[in-house]
Amino acid sequence: MTPSSSHSALRDLENLFTPSPLSPINDPLLLKYGIELWLKRDDLLHPIISGNKWRKLKYSLNDALNLGKDTIISMGGAHSNHLHALAYTGKLLNIKTHGFIRGEQPETLTDTLKDLQDWGMQLSYISRSAYRALRDYQDHFSLPGLKPNEYWLPEGGASPLALQGVAELVKEINQPYDILCTPCGTGATLAGLINATPNNTSVIGFAALKNAHFLIDDVNALLPAPHSNWQINLNYHFGGFAKTTPELMCFIKQFAAITGIVLEPIYTGKMLYALYNLISKHTFKPGQRIIAIHTGGLQGLRGFNE
Ligand SMILES: Cc1ncc(COP(=O)(O)O)c(C=O)c1O
Repeated sequence: MTPSSSHSALRDLENLFTPSPLSPINDPLLLKYGIELWLKRDDLLHPIISGNKWRKLKYSLNDALNLGKDTIISMGGAHSNHLHALAYTGKLLNIKTHGFIRGEQPETLTDTLKDLQDWGMQLSYISRSAYRALRDYQDHFSLPGLKPNEYWLPEGGASPLALQGVAELVKEINQPYDILCTPCGTGATLAGLINATPNNTSVIGFAALKNAHFLIDDVNALLPAPHSNWQINLNYHFGGFAKTTPELMCFIKQFAAITGIVLEPIYTGKMLYALYNLISKHTFKPGQRIIAIHTGGLQGLRGFNE
């Protein structure tokens, strides 16, 4: 972000972030297959605004501030990492936030919803069909009924400006690599990686949802120009969004025991499981270096203990 384009409030906020390290995964199993696996630890960027959330939010927030908006409106589920990061960022920046929440208000609020409330986000619970309809509004000004002081942020912060923040992640990678991987929800993070990565590098997204073929169109729609060096693996959804299996949970436990790195089962756990599985099937060539993004979202782990 060049100083002339960045809002002073956002520059102050940026000082709270620590650089995200690139860490090798020292697992003898990987050595056996001759694969080098590294994790870009975006989960360590900030204790709350962690992972790809900050990458995707940064330039949209800057845009909103530069346009003089004082309220950001967005959408998400009862465990949404995106709304969690947005609500906290709004509190720090002293701007109002408003979240449309999918489904009825639960009798007992989830830990995520409690945080959103505590941080001052206005919550509106809407039906699943009304929630789906909100996905039609992609531009920050396009939400019907939006007031002049309000800025609309699509689901997951998936806007073209998200790609600029993700590009900064790619610039921070200071060593050569063959394959770059990320979990996919809306596909915005994947689009950002594709857009910022040289053409001789493969980029793979791992869908966290079932039947996620639509992601290919969504990613293409976000990309300013066509690219051919990417794919989305649709095979490791474990039954659907936020669905888990004992095998997946066991993998996550083992991974933490070997590496000391905590994953969550919605996004990063599924991606790492998939990578280990593909490595064991000799999908990658010995000597290849894979970098996977730890996209954070560890607050969502609390939903598995509720
Ligand atoms: C922890 C985590 N990882 C990955 C993703 C997927 O990112 P995207 O929606 O950009 O595909 C999300 C959702 O935004 C997330 O919360």
